[in-house]
Amino acid sequence: MKKYLVIGNPIEHSLSPQIHNYWLNKHKINAIYEKKLLKENDLKEIILEIKNEKIDGINVTLPFKKKIIPFLDELSPEATESQSVNTVYIENKKIFGHNTDIAGFELGIRHIKYDVKNKAVFIFGAGGVVPSIIVALKKMKVSKIFLCNRTEEKAKELKKNFKELEIKDWGDIPPETNIIINATSLGLCKDDNIKINYDKIGSNKLFYDVIYNPRETNFLKKAKQYKNNISNGKLMFIYQAHQAFTIWHKIMPKIDDEVINLLDND
Ligand code: ATR
Repeated sequence: MKKYLVIGNPIEHSLSPQIHNYWLNKHKINAIYEKKLLKENDLKEIILEIKNEKIDGINVTLPFKKKIIPFLDELSPEATESQSVNTVYIENKKIFGHNTDIAGFELGIRHIKYDVKNKAVFIFGAGGVVPSIIVALKKMKVSKIFLCNRTEEKAKELKKNFKELEIKDWGDIPPETNIIINATSLGLCKDDNIKINYDKIGSNKLFYDVIYNPRETNFLKKAKQYKNNISNGKLMFIYQAHQAFTIWHKIMPKIDDEVINLLDND
């Protein structure tokens, strides 16, 4: 039986096993997908286990998406550009690192048929998922990316890789902004709020929250009250898993309502 893992720290919240095992069952593939809590010191060993064919592939989540890179033989162009790896596989005895978060974000946005071309985007946060979102937005030809982060140093660090970023003060959303993305962990707790002047922003923008559990964070709830469009990160999560599944099993599972509803835990 083949074995796949998602590694991270913490890891108990991960819904990756749910979706991968659902598709494995659906396609009668003799494999299992589990989650594993790791420490940074364990990364070398886990890659060795792939080399020794004890594990067939892994998904990588926070905080290891960058830290895993030195242990890999080759990176895909997406992983190189974002310096972030979420999918690892072996081919011809070489360990490859790829990033399916980028395609996950893009396909999720396409799924809701929102045209981001030439739109100005404002991002809250500079954590692990943000480089992937920036690469996807650039690929989709947005006109401008503003970004703010509680710890400004981290935003400046990101700008070294992405020169086109314009760093703003926390919540200082320019009037030309069309899309506002929450990529912080604020919202994971139901009472979390992001201080935003919704009156000033107006309506008909897209508010996007990477968080999908809870399904509607206060960030999205308030945006809806102000007659904006909203989307959470569930489709991004599903599409990144879909891309990884396709790489490992050479099968493209269907993304239907059953899959989409599978992840509604709240
Ligand atoms: P990491 O920072 O380890 O990559 P992450 O979950 O990817 O972890 O990122 C968390 C993001 O949420 C960061 O942008 C973080 O801001 P800092 O860089 O200042 O830590 C942001 N974040 C978490 N809690 C926050 C809070 N209470 N207020 C504002 N931003 C917060």
